Amino acid sequence: MPDPNLAATVHHSGGSYPVVAGWGLLDQLGDRLVDLGINSPAYIITDENLMNRYGRRAQRALQQRGIAAHCFVIPPGEPSKTNSLAQAIYEWLVSLRAERGHAIIAVGGGVVGDLAGYVAATFLRGVPFIQVPTSMAAMVDASIGGKVAVNLPQGKNLVGAFYQPQAVLADVQTLSTLGRRELSEGWAEAIKHGFILEAALVDVFEEHAEALMNVEPEISTEVIRRSMAIKAEVVSQDERETLGIRILLNYGHTIGHALESSTEYGRFMHGEGVSIGMMGAAKMAQEMGLLDQAVVDRQYNLLQRFHLPTTAAGVSVEDIRRAMSLDKKVAGGSNRWVMLEDVGRAVVRRDVPVELVDRTVRELVG
Ligand SMILES: NC(=O)c1ccc[n+]([C@@H]2O[C@H](COP(=O)([O-])OP(=O)(O)OC[C@H]3O[C@@H](n4cnc5c(N)ncnc54)[C@H](O)[C@@H]3O)[C@@H](O)[C@H]2O)c1
Repeated sequence: MPDPNLAATVHHSGGSYPVVAGWGLLDQLGDRLVDLGINSPAYIITDENLMNRYGRRAQRALQQRGIAAHCFVIPPGEPSKTNSLAQAIYEWLVSLRAERGHAIIAVGGGVVGDLAGYVAATFLRGVPFIQVPTSMAAMVDASIGGKVAVNLPQGKNLVGAFYQPQAVLADVQTLSTLGRRELSEGWAEAIKHGFILEAALVDVFEEHAEALMNVEPEISTEVIRRSMAIKAEVVSQDERETLGIRILLNYGHTIGHALESSTEYGRFMHGEGVSIGMMGAAKMAQEMGLLDQAVVDRQYNLLQRFHLPTTAAGVSVEDIRRAMSLDKKVAGGSNRWVMLEDVGRAVVRRDVPVELVDRTVRELVG
């Protein structure tokens, strides 16, 4: 019988893996691993905020199926994505005599997933890896697609690999313990998925905004599954970001990243930056004659209903400009912009006039 919780299957050069989302799925983790053929000891990586709530539950679920499970708990947040913490995990794994067939399981947000995945990719030249994302960013984005990394003092994600998990297993119920701001910024990424690739998903967001902000089980699970499916489809088509498809996921990110970095990651959460960046990109598309004003308004109204910022009053234009010129999407001196042509239809443009970018940024911070 097909798995009703299956959101998508990711296909990649080395095979494929299921992306699954369900309400209360954490307690079935042992069954799911056994179904995947994993019976050997497992190593759970989680963070201090999540250990008692979810790490232990994951551990119990594995032990109930006879799988020995050990936990390594990292401090929460971005500063944990380092080589030195990876080193500490390697040493812990060696002390427990971890072997090549033993799985590493990330139970947490994108930080845990990126770090645990990096360790899984490198320890003994690669051990099985399972993603159990607990934050929205991790569910609809970070856990799918195999990008794993740690940061260097010079910048984020500078050392890493493409290393695909064997499964992504998301328990949507875990989102109930996110704060309201975290929830809003998380939904921003999923809303973005709708605007770039699936108009019908934008309709669902409009119809169920309040229910989604309350993490009502049925609709939240459906929307998470659909959003995961969009990411899964994109990374299946463009595994290594070489075909110009995966870049569409960067809608709103050029200005968004610039806002995050020019305010030293202290003012905007990632999804908040993306929300403002989506408004900037939509306004530019409208001025270039690509997009109807009605779509710009529709996007604005939806972001507002999710309590997301759409302007960035007071940020220095100069700082934003500098940050944009350092952006990874700068090719041949000009930024590649992901723009909408309609709801659910995105394109990449290299011909956005610098004056238009400047004027739009001024409007956003004005
Ligand atoms: N690999 C990729 O493709 C990819 C894509 C996007 C983002 N990322 C990375 O993901 C990271 C951001 O992810 P994030 O926003 O999940 O950050 P995070 O992992 O730091 O989680 C944010 C905070 O939420 C807490 N948290 C997580 N789940 C919770 C829950 N269910 N209830 C209560 N609190 C919870 C965490 O403990 C943490 O304090 C960044 O490092 C980014 O680079 C990676």
